[in-house]
Amino acid sequence: MKTLLITGGAGFIGSHVVRRFVNKYPEYKIVNLDVLTYAGNLENLRDIDSRSNYEFVKADINDSAVITNLFEKYQFDGVLHLAAESHVDRSIADPMAFIMTNIVGTVNLLNAARKIWKAGSEGHRFYHISTDEVYGSLGESGLFLETTSYDPHSPYSASKASSDHLVRAYHDTYKLPIVITNCSNNYGPNQFPEKLIPLAIHNISQNKPIPIYGKGENIRDWLYVEDHAAAIDLVFHLGKDGETYNIGGHNEWTNISLIKQLCLTMDKKLGREPGTSEKLITYVKDRAGHDLRYAIDSSKIQQELGWAPSLQFEEGIEKTVDWYLANTEWLENVASGAYEKYYEKQYVSR
Ligand code: NAD
Ligand code: DAU
Repeated sequence: MKTLLITGGAGFIGSHVVRRFVNKYPEYKIVNLDVLTYAGNLENLRDIDSRSNYEFVKADINDSAVITNLFEKYQFDGVLHLAAESHVDRSIADPMAFIMTNIVGTVNLLNAARKIWKAGSEGHRFYHISTDEVYGSLGESGLFLETTSYDPHSPYSASKASSDHLVRAYHDTYKLPIVITNCSNNYGPNQFPEKLIPLAIHNISQNKPIPIYGKGENIRDWLYVEDHAAAIDLVFHLGKDGETYNIGGHNEWTNISLIKQLCLTMDKKLGREPGTSEKLITYVKDRAGHDLRYAIDSSKIQQELGWAPSLQFEEGIEKTVDWYLANTEWLENVASGAYEKYYEKQYVSR
């Protein structure tokens, strides 16, 4: 039986990856390591948490001694590293946690893997899950390729770029078996309502203003989270050692057109007159250093590993809205307490 470590498995993407691996690979033991920050939520995994091939460990990747001990105890065969501070606006307000978790935490994992895998890399793999934001911002045309130079602009993307470089350095210097993917914006169930789509769903359902930064003309390339989890599964098993694969939805939307589409879907689901929710759109101060456009060329993973997004955006957004409307308790639980303070600081009192 192989033992795999998935870090950040209580978060948004991590919980979908954990569920997929626990269900699909009963022959693997899946250890989900998460410190449970505001973004980590074990409710995301209630349906699989009593499975015999699943174990949760509450631990901080910034604690090198704890991480080293866990690697020695479990002798992980593979690592899928998703734990991170992930929200750009929080990184602008307070970068330090991003430097610690995203850079130092990643190095702690690399060191621990290097220590237990020193006997040889056969059958081992350190998979670092990263973002398209490391490539910076595109103009009106062009796509990010795996060979595009790094040009990060926010403390978040700079910390992810730094961790990507360190992962590659451990491959080149110590022959650590690694693979990296850089993915575009994910959406779907269980995303914390600090991110654009769940924040808008939450506000529309409460008849609150939907904050749009600047003119709403920034463009993102949206991918349904389960399609990302499927790509991660393929790359973990079939990706080539030392390689990078870009993952994206071929699904570019300006923020304003995406929100208008979401408003129509919400009107339909909530039985409101078409056009009602759109009236909640409110333009607010732009994000500092706001990247204009992200868009991924995913031909490498499509051609080499046969991956492609399975859902059209209209279908994905309906599924997402349906999930949030069926899970109002989940949403209200995560949107209370500390979230209210964050919301007040980010949107009301600045
Ligand atoms: P998330 O914020 O929803 O979840 C992050 C998880 O990591 C949480 O469960 C949190 O508790 C955990 N964590 C944070 N700090 C930790 C620490 N010090 N020790 C242990 N656990 C810790 O993030 P997400 O959106 O699911 O993103 C997961 C990964 O995918 C990140 O590395 C992110 O950079 C990357 N990514 C995200 C997107 C996206 O659109 N969300 C797109 C591409 C790549
Ligand atoms: O591209 C991948 C990245 O996508 C991931 O690496 C990040 O972890 C993830 O958070 C996401 O980053 P973005 O900054 O693109 O996502 P966010 O949902 O914060 O914002 C999407 C767009 O919407 C962006 O142009 C900013 C804008 N926005 C966001 C919020 C929260 C608004 O206009 N209003 C808002 O209130």
